Amino acid sequence: MEWTREQRYLPYEKHSALELLKLQAQAANSSYQMHYHVRPNSGLLNDPNGFSYYNNEWHVFYQSFPFGAAHGLKSWMHMTSPDLVHWQSHGLALAPDTEYDSHGAYSGSARVIDDRLFLMYTGNHRDADWQRTPYQLGAWLDKQNQVTKLDQPLFVNPDHISEHFRDPQLLKYNDKYYAIIGAQEKDTQEGHIDLWVSDELTTGWQEVGYVDCMDDSMGYMCECPNLIDVDGHPVLIFCPQGLDKKVADYENIYPNMYLTGDDFDYEKAKLINSSQIPVNLDDGFDVYATQAFNAPDGKAYAISWVGLPDLSYPTDTENWANCLSQVKELHYQNGRLLQKPVAAMKELRGQAESFNGNVSHIKTGRQFEMTVDIAADQAGTLFLAAAQDLSAGLQVRFDTRTGKLSVDRSHAGQPVAPDFGTVRSVKLPADQPLKLDVFIDHSLAEIFVNDGEHILTLRFFNDPCQVWAGFDERINAHGTVWQLKNM
Ligand code: FRU
Repeated sequence: MEWTREQRYLPYEKHSALELLKLQAQAANSSYQMHYHVRPNSGLLNDPNGFSYYNNEWHVFYQSFPFGAAHGLKSWMHMTSPDLVHWQSHGLALAPDTEYDSHGAYSGSARVIDDRLFLMYTGNHRDADWQRTPYQLGAWLDKQNQVTKLDQPLFVNPDHISEHFRDPQLLKYNDKYYAIIGAQEKDTQEGHIDLWVSDELTTGWQEVGYVDCMDDSMGYMCECPNLIDVDGHPVLIFCPQGLDKKVADYENIYPNMYLTGDDFDYEKAKLINSSQIPVNLDDGFDVYATQAFNAPDGKAYAISWVGLPDLSYPTDTENWANCLSQVKELHYQNGRLLQKPVAAMKELRGQAESFNGNVSHIKTGRQFEMTVDIAADQAGTLFLAAAQDLSAGLQVRFDTRTGKLSVDRSHAGQPVAPDFGTVRSVKLPADQPLKLDVFIDHSLAEIFVNDGEHILTLRFFNDPCQVWAGFDERINAHGTVWQLKNM
């Protein structure tokens, strides 16, 4: 269905309750629906927002257009969890209901301040001529999950930034509040991460300047910046749109990347000893707008939108789209991020079955975790979500002698964004054993490689009868499959 502008921006109260119930049922009953990941109640989900720990619970919100698979009038939906795995929905938290966020309560972050959670986000406003003004806004969430918006934007936008100015992450350093915000310089049309500072939070904001972290241009816009501390190292995670592929290699329509440094200078807005060349945060097909934060104990956690802007997905025809990734615990090793499942993921494990590389295939179902250890001198293909005769399925091709690993989704059902390629590869050290930890949730695969040195996340839309996994030849390998419970 083609969405007109009027349909996309129709105020929420103009939609009927019955329509919403139908959309919720459609999403719940889809054979592609995820059962242990955050997925939209109805319609389209995009960026995770406000990832935080408050009032003895984990909180995450997500960008939502509840009325179909379109990027329409966005709001924040609210989820909480005791363990980062079992999430409960609290429905709509930030509605697009003021002049400043009239065309969408866009992405932002959350921070505990005294006994409330402060939400800092971008209000998308358009005038009658469809001219956009983004506003950086604030709201308080209390222990009853009630939201109170501030009356006014936090500050007036500087003249030198274009209409592309959004996705604030609120930070605190040396008793001052800071925010990093994705920005486009008006004159050069180049993307930047803009740093702001305030002593008071709700007033007194001043621009520090663009973060100095890359000598090369970031492209034409930088969305969803995050600055976190990972094992004592500052890490900048961001989505540079239009980044020159000569600067850093990526195949997705837009990448989600990171830089590391030795320190972050808040006064000079500089990532000290920046790694300069950004690296893909995820080596799969569908991760974007990752949001990360430091928990009260200092640990860094990240959660991603599994979906990309400007692409359509096969469930669009079922009027819903996308999901969030599982939460990943971040660590730092030799200038690189390690991403691991959180401990509580093990609590989803049900019945287990062990296998070795002599078995041609094993029935996994569509909701499982599989760990596989492959010896250092092996080459072959691991099929996942496959037909019983392995004629179709996701293909994980490996050669541990040369250190090659790739995932091919071209034989796994309906095509997804084939213009951007159907294979994603990573290079591993040669002559080393390979360790995979694979999570499948119906139409979502998350493949952790070598204890989180890489992760490949992707959607696939295969025939629901394809519930098998296995090698197409004898491989020196062993593994375990666990059925996973619903969250
Ligand atoms: C990234 C993004 C953000 C924006 C939000 C709107 O996917 O475009 O920059 O705040 O989505 O939904």
